[in-house]
Amino acid sequence: MRCKKMVNVGRRQFLRGSAVAGVGAAATMMTGVQAHAATPGAQVDYPSTKLGNISDLTVNEPVDIEFPDADSPGVLLKMGEAVEGGAGPDSDIVAFSVLCPHKGWYMSYNSEDRTLNCPGHYSRFDAEAGGQQVWGHATQNLPQFTLRIDDKGDIYAEGASDLIFGRPSNVL
Ligand code: FES
Repeated sequence: MRCKKMVNVGRRQFLRGSAVAGVGAAATMMTGVQAHAATPGAQVDYPSTKLGNISDLTVNEPVDIEFPDADSPGVLLKMGEAVEGGAGPDSDIVAFSVLCPHKGWYMSYNSEDRTLNCPGHYSRFDAEAGGQQVWGHATQNLPQFTLRIDDKGDIYAEGASDLIFGRPSNVL
């Protein structure tokens, strides 16, 4: 008898829990809104470093750079049309780390689809979309370097959008 009562209590609690879950699901379906935790940006400023001049660049041809120091290889690109994070008069000049965010393999630029490609485990990042990951094992987008271009066309890097591989923080 006592056992039967406990089973009934258990059923009631299960049904009550189901009803609450159902109401929550229905509310989400009706509003179409789900809570998302805000993701803090990793943007950090570095000492301004000259990378070159606009006159040095040819559309879709990568130029090797180092930023913010010699242990951080990167690439400077003129895309030929306005792109996300693009600097300069045509908003088409961008720069990225070439260390893969997954395990730090050295990546190369593919001028055909305008992505940076990792030979390690094949992650790919879109140079026209702020370094957004489009394929592979990495769990973050490619760090994009913040650029400033002065009146003479000199290009300076002054920050990074994400953590550069191998660094515990974006602090020099
Ligand atoms: Fe680049 Fe693994 S090191 S995908």
